Amino acid sequence: MTIAGSVRRLFHRGSGQVFAPQDYWEGRHRTHHGTLRAVGHRQLSDEANAEQYQIKESRIIGMIRRYVPEPCGRTLLDAGCGVGVLIPVYVKLGFAVVGVDFSETAVRQAQVSGVSAQFIVSSLAGLELGRRFDVITAIDVLLHIVAENEWADTLLSLSRHLKPGGVLIILDTFTDRTEGWSNHCKPRSMDRYAATLADLGLRIVEHEQFNLEHEDAIKDLFAVRHVRSR
Ligand SMILES: C[S@@+](CC[C@H](N)C(=O)[O-])C[C@H]1O[C@@H](n2cnc3c(N)ncnc32)[C@H](O)[C@@H]1O
Repeated sequence: MTIAGSVRRLFHRGSGQVFAPQDYWEGRHRTHHGTLRAVGHRQLSDEANAEQYQIKESRIIGMIRRYVPEPCGRTLLDAGCGVGVLIPVYVKLGFAVVGVDFSETAVRQAQVSGVSAQFIVSSLAGLELGRRFDVITAIDVLLHIVAENEWADTLLSLSRHLKPGGVLIILDTFTDRTEGWSNHCKPRSMDRYAATLADLGLRIVEHEQFNLEHEDAIKDLFAVRHVRSR
């Protein structure tokens, strides 16, 4: 495991409340260590979370295969990999995988399975791997980047780690609805994503939606192509 330098950031979120994303995720990974509640939905059972992961996995893999029909020997960066639930599936497809997360506890847990992948502890905005990937996955992570500058820097960093012609797969919730979200979530609209990605030379080429019944959520899954280097 490599630990890259990371900065602990604090954000004020109304009524004097301070929210520190890295502390939140570190705490959550420690509390729910080894269970899907660490990375799935906190209020669902492991069984319900496992069912949801099955649905997400089949959608994500279906989309990756449409853009990379022959994954053997290709590279994949799992951005915000958490405890690495999806990494064995990517490895089985033939990808050489690097997983990145800013929670050291999560990365340690991801390594427990002994999966053949490289892991790095780093924030996504500060990531400097000096190489580019055929595929980058950002699964249920961008929604959790609450500060605007951090979010913009993260998209820039992901664009710099994607090969020309490569594909970025994003699973998230895109909405204009700003009410009723927890501190650790900051939804943004589809238009906002499309415009910011376009500025970075990235184009949304596919969008599908599906329902996660247990948490009563509609998920947005995107394939984004790197069309111009920055
Ligand atoms: C909801 S979990 C999803 C984990 C994994 N992608 C999955 O689908 O199982 C979000 C993960 O993103 C990580 N994370 C959140 N913000 C991050 C950031 N700015 N840089 C790196 N990791 C981050 C958290 O530590 C957490 O493990």
